[in-house]
Amino acid sequence: MMRLLRTTYFLFLLFLLVPGNSHGQSTRQSFLLEKNWRFFQGEVVHGESVALDDNTWKNVTVPHDWAIFGPFDRSHDLQDVAVTQNGEKKATVKTGRTGGLPYVGVGWYRTKFDIPQFNPVNKRVVLKFDGAMSEARVYVNGKEACFWPYGYNAFHCDVTEFLHQDGMNNTVAVRLENKAQSSRWYPGAGLYRNVHVIVTEKIHVPVWGTYITTPFVSDSLASVKLETSLKNADGKLVRMVTAILDATGQVVAQKENQQKLNYGKPFVQNLEVINPALWSPEHPNLYRASTQVFVEGKLTDSFETRFGIREVRIIADRGFMLNGKVRKFQGVCNHHDLGPLGAAINVSALRYQLELLKDMGCDAIRTAHNMPAPELVALCDELGFMLMIEPFDEWDIAKCKNGYHRFFADWAERDMVNMIRHFRNNPSVVMWSIGNEVPTQCSAEGYKVASFLQDICHREDPSRPVTCGMDQVSCVLENGFASLLDVPGLNYRAHRYEEAYAKLPQNLVLGSETASTVSSRGVYKFPVLKKGDMLYSDHQSSSYDMEYCSWSNLPDEDFALAEDHHWTMGQFVWTGFDYLGEPSPYDTDAWPNHSSMFGIIDLASIPKDRYYLYRSLWNKNVHTLHIIPHWTWPERVGKETPVFVYTDYPSAELFINGKSQGIQRKSKASLQERYRLMWMNTVYEPGEVKVVAYDESGKPAAEKIIRTAGRAFRIEMDAVHDSISADGRALAYIRVKAVDKEGNLCPRAAELVQFDVVGDGTFKALANGDPTNLEAFHKPQMHLFNGQLTLIVQAGEKSGRIQIKAKCKGLKEGVLNVQTVNSKTF
Ligand code: GAL
Repeated sequence: MMRLLRTTYFLFLLFLLVPGNSHGQSTRQSFLLEKNWRFFQGEVVHGESVALDDNTWKNVTVPHDWAIFGPFDRSHDLQDVAVTQNGEKKATVKTGRTGGLPYVGVGWYRTKFDIPQFNPVNKRVVLKFDGAMSEARVYVNGKEACFWPYGYNAFHCDVTEFLHQDGMNNTVAVRLENKAQSSRWYPGAGLYRNVHVIVTEKIHVPVWGTYITTPFVSDSLASVKLETSLKNADGKLVRMVTAILDATGQVVAQKENQQKLNYGKPFVQNLEVINPALWSPEHPNLYRASTQVFVEGKLTDSFETRFGIREVRIIADRGFMLNGKVRKFQGVCNHHDLGPLGAAINVSALRYQLELLKDMGCDAIRTAHNMPAPELVALCDELGFMLMIEPFDEWDIAKCKNGYHRFFADWAERDMVNMIRHFRNNPSVVMWSIGNEVPTQCSAEGYKVASFLQDICHREDPSRPVTCGMDQVSCVLENGFASLLDVPGLNYRAHRYEEAYAKLPQNLVLGSETASTVSSRGVYKFPVLKKGDMLYSDHQSSSYDMEYCSWSNLPDEDFALAEDHHWTMGQFVWTGFDYLGEPSPYDTDAWPNHSSMFGIIDLASIPKDRYYLYRSLWNKNVHTLHIIPHWTWPERVGKETPVFVYTDYPSAELFINGKSQGIQRKSKASLQERYRLMWMNTVYEPGEVKVVAYDESGKPAAEKIIRTAGRAFRIEMDAVHDSISADGRALAYIRVKAVDKEGNLCPRAAELVQFDVVGDGTFKALANGDPTNLEAFHKPQMHLFNGQLTLIVQAGEKSGRIQIKAKCKGLKEGVLNVQTVNSKTF
């Protein structure tokens, strides 16, 4: 009964504190600066001046990436370098290394904002940038308010003193500059993440001012520790009232504490949750801590922090444990760009990426090699992905002439602190990685830099282990660099895992970066050979998944390492998605290649064949049965055309036009035969390929058929999302295909398709996944690549219908509607 009364009291208290309550005031307010920005690409003398007339500048909405609109050009950021981490000794010209897009240069953004009822004496106003690319100088009403060089990190500054006395009509101007040769991939350009205005009382919880940990976790009980910082309350008597709410909004724990705040120290509260719903990738249960802060009897702030209850441990010889169970990472590395959308953040695009990865059975992501957008981290909390967040590709020694090494000495600690405080309450984040293949690995005192960074992690967040992606195995095994890390992470070099395990004190090896197998969706090369650094005249790689780079390997090798050794911790595959830039193996003067071929999923978010290889091992909830290649090869009649099947079943029988080609069984004869079923000597004849999969007992369990396609007849559009939120931001992805009369995909169609998008939404972008395609992503026409492309449309702000037509010369047009709905459920 007491418990019920207390719960009711707390709910009543919470009710009083929601904005617009009977007190008629709320203690904090936060909004985005999203629409009505003015943008100018180029230098502007006194671009910060309030008097400047920016009416002729472009009107843009933030998040905005100025470079994604192109045009693509070989001359953009040409780099003459030796990529030493790829084993290169001599400098060569690299075209398309950063995507062949115009990200280099200066850009200015300006907008205005109001703070009604502003009072500089008792209010504080903070501008928070989730990321600005790069070297951001922020001016408010003509005065410089803050500078933050690293384009991937979030930062904030108190702008109270710069605002107009009445709080109205404040001008914010941001100057950004990207230097040539500052990156190894496409970084994007501009205000590509959200900009927030946060208004609080003078005494308030600062940005990232809460830290929630779960020092004890069991199925029956969890203790939750809340450390809350307060600004401007030193020496004052503070009362904090915290309620923990579960996913349904029920209060499951509550606490009221009072103490005098010790200078600079956070206010600590400990709470208990009985029978907690633990967080895991399979069950991403979340809680909220809702805190009210009273100082000398007056409510001065109310603050909510989302968190999860879970336990992360690293155990020698056993690996990574989540909630007491050993698991191996089934992870991917991802870059931050969203293909045709560039670096401009969009929640629907991120959600779609995660949905595709979830279906593949992926449970972890490494943010390579920089800080993620907060929206990605929040989605990983909600959908169930473990994150390894990694801030840097460079420390004090350069990889790129104008890379982060220019800022490392002065900024590394500040960058680490912002990153860790930003994300230390997110249950999805299970590990920090302090860097990727940094040249500092081999320097005599490199271990000191690694210790410095690892110590910052331990100081700011003692609850998570720390790793580093290392590729210079000989150096780091000898010089003390690898042995000081909580978790030694090896990039590639699968053949050195055993040695690392034997030499290192941690008795563990994490595959911090693996595979780098290359393929182009829908492209198959003959004869089928397992080979590194294969180059072809069409600048593509084969989707038989047998090609890799000189430093890398095939997926099968990494699967075996995870399965065969209790001391391996699983892997992060390079990469989940293709990304802009780094077009290896066509990475020297091989224009027009300008996007990667490493992805399991292509730049148009269409899974390549490799997706099904990973899925056949990783997704234990569904069966996989996938046949490669396609079966439309008019020029190969009578020629040997191997067939591979990716499946979780142990064996299968293949039939071509009804004739059995025999049964293949997974075996340990070779790494490939262990994970793939392969018929190497099948001969092409047009018609039908059927595979019948057999279960453990040898009974037919599933079958799949593919057929030779006839002439392309019509354009088919399949909406991945047929109904989206009418919020002006949501996106629908639509798979566009050329099909024959029977509906078979025409796997080599390359026709130009033109789109009309009308109604309650707009055309957003197109992509076809071809790493050599120079067509602009934002023009409503594009050629199919191997029969397919992806159209993205964006919802307007009214519920209704987006009507789409796809026209293609000689083919029947495609027609599709996408609903836009006013609903909070998206
Ligand atoms: C790794 C590096 C990645 C990417 C990859 C391509 O060495 O860490 O950023 O360059 O190679 O295979």
